[in-house]
Amino acid sequence: MKSSFPAGRRSPLTIQRTTPKIFLLVAPTFILLTILSLYFPFLWKSNGSAATPASSNDNYPLSSPDHQLRVEEKVGGGTSTASSAATASSSSRCDIFTGEWVPNPRAPYYTNKTCWAIHEHQNCMKYGRPDSEFMKWRWKPDGCDLPIFNPAQFLELVRGKSLAFVGDSVARNQMQSMICLLSRVEYPIDVSYTENERYKRWKYTTYNFTLASFWTPHLVKSKETDSDGPTHTGLFSLYLDELDEKWTDHIGGFDYLIISAGHWFFRPLVFHEDQRVVGCHYCLLPNVTDVPMFYGLRKALRTAFRAINSAKGYKGITYLRTYAPPHFENGMWNQGGNCVRTMPFRSNETTLEGSSLEAYMIQVEEFRRAEAEGRRRGLKYRLLDMTQAMLLRPDGHPSRYGHWPHENVTLYNDCVHWCLPGPIDTWSDFLLEMLKMEGRRSRKDKLVYSDRRLRSR
Ligand SMILES: *[C@@H]1O[C@H](CO)[C@@H](O)[C@H](O)[C@H]1NC(C)=O
Ligand SMILES: *[C@@H]1O[C@H](CO)[C@@H](O)[C@H](O)[C@H]1NC(C)=O
Ligand SMILES: *[C@@H]1O[C@H](CO)[C@@H](O)[C@H](O)[C@H]1NC(C)=O
Ligand SMILES: *[C@@H]1O[C@H](CO)[C@@H](O)[C@H](O)[C@H]1NC(C)=O
Ligand SMILES: *[C@@H]1O[C@H](CO)[C@@H](O)[C@H](O)[C@H]1NC(C)=O
Repeated sequence: MKSSFPAGRRSPLTIQRTTPKIFLLVAPTFILLTILSLYFPFLWKSNGSAATPASSNDNYPLSSPDHQLRVEEKVGGGTSTASSAATASSSSRCDIFTGEWVPNPRAPYYTNKTCWAIHEHQNCMKYGRPDSEFMKWRWKPDGCDLPIFNPAQFLELVRGKSLAFVGDSVARNQMQSMICLLSRVEYPIDVSYTENERYKRWKYTTYNFTLASFWTPHLVKSKETDSDGPTHTGLFSLYLDELDEKWTDHIGGFDYLIISAGHWFFRPLVFHEDQRVVGCHYCLLPNVTDVPMFYGLRKALRTAFRAINSAKGYKGITYLRTYAPPHFENGMWNQGGNCVRTMPFRSNETTLEGSSLEAYMIQVEEFRRAEAEGRRRGLKYRLLDMTQAMLLRPDGHPSRYGHWPHENVTLYNDCVHWCLPGPIDTWSDFLLEMLKMEGRRSRKDKLVYSDRRLRSR
């Protein structure tokens, strides 16, 4: 694996005019943990679970039907809820995306020794991260439980299917986390159709399951027009109404797409629509007016969803994985900002605001739009609503442990990506839970359908 960063070598977070200030406010309430450096090599060994195949089920409590019904509500944006509500009877309503991180001494479920898929710059233990507590949390929704990822169960559910990650290096981060979690059952073989690392394809032969990643940091057609630019981090031209065919041409047969975007829209960008320049974000070019922050993100999402809704042969389920906020404190990424915490926040200790909130809101709004449009065409959309959970994990980033101290990488302290193992592993907990929900839905659909047929006879 080569370059670090989506950017090639520059950070996606360029103009940090809007770095959240929230963490400064809560900073004094936190005490850093003492360093565990002597300890951590043994924690993994004694923890046994890391190398144990997922044969026994007792590690994986079955989820209760109650909260899954609620998942459907939230994720389905209110569609097809009525019928499930009918079967829910006395359900305590539970939104799996709202909750707290609670200790999980059993984690992690793999290490950099058992899993080869960890990207260099997210291999935090290799680069000397002294603490390991950040691996030992699980997400606890208010009012129900979210089961820990069960790799055997997941592979069974996706047998004969295909899943693609569409986005930037955080999408790749998620895919590698999933490969590591699944590695307790099986490793995939590389069946990529190109040498280009940005378009990987993996096959789980026992399960005939295909995993793919498509690199598209802006989701739409884009071009770097200046490698320096006003902030020395490059200047990109975005063609907001034109598809990035490197992924849109290839989604046809996929059963699941996980779309994400965000970090790259902070950089200087020139927006094109209708084949002319319509504005820019901090480009400082003469005659080009600045448009509001995230104008480009909204339009790019819209175009991406339009592509999905009209893609030939695509009948899959589209997940929008919402924005995972960065956690730079005491400065922007290029001004000495860093993320040095070793504990999660509790939900009452921080709130989503500033540009992270705006990015999230835009995503949810465009998701709703796409979902309505997709419904007319029989396509399903689900929200993989990770923002709140990840907001609470300032401790999960590589910080300076994504490279050796003498290495000159542009993102000096990485507070954007996630260490592996680490909190991003939880995204698979959510995904599996949502996939299980699909099973319930389709069984129910069949029941309703056969019921109708019986009646119509
Ligand atoms: C894994 O992490 C350890 C530190 O815990 C480090 O010594 C080792 O080089 C790493 N191995 C790999 C393959 O990354
Ligand atoms: C594997 O899955 C694909 C769909 O992803 C299907 O077309 C193919 O027939 C399957 N192959 C086998 C051997 O089951
Ligand atoms: C900016 O606009 C002025 C007046 O319309 C024009 O003379 C000039 O060439 C433009 N500059 C650029 C860089 O397009
Ligand atoms: C947050 O909630 C916890 C437990 O409910 C409480 O102990 C703590 O004082 C609260 N912190 C703040 C900043 O309100
Ligand atoms: C790091 O790289 C940048 C640009 O690539 C260069 O300007 C800078 O001098 C380098 N710093 C060191 C310490 O090598």
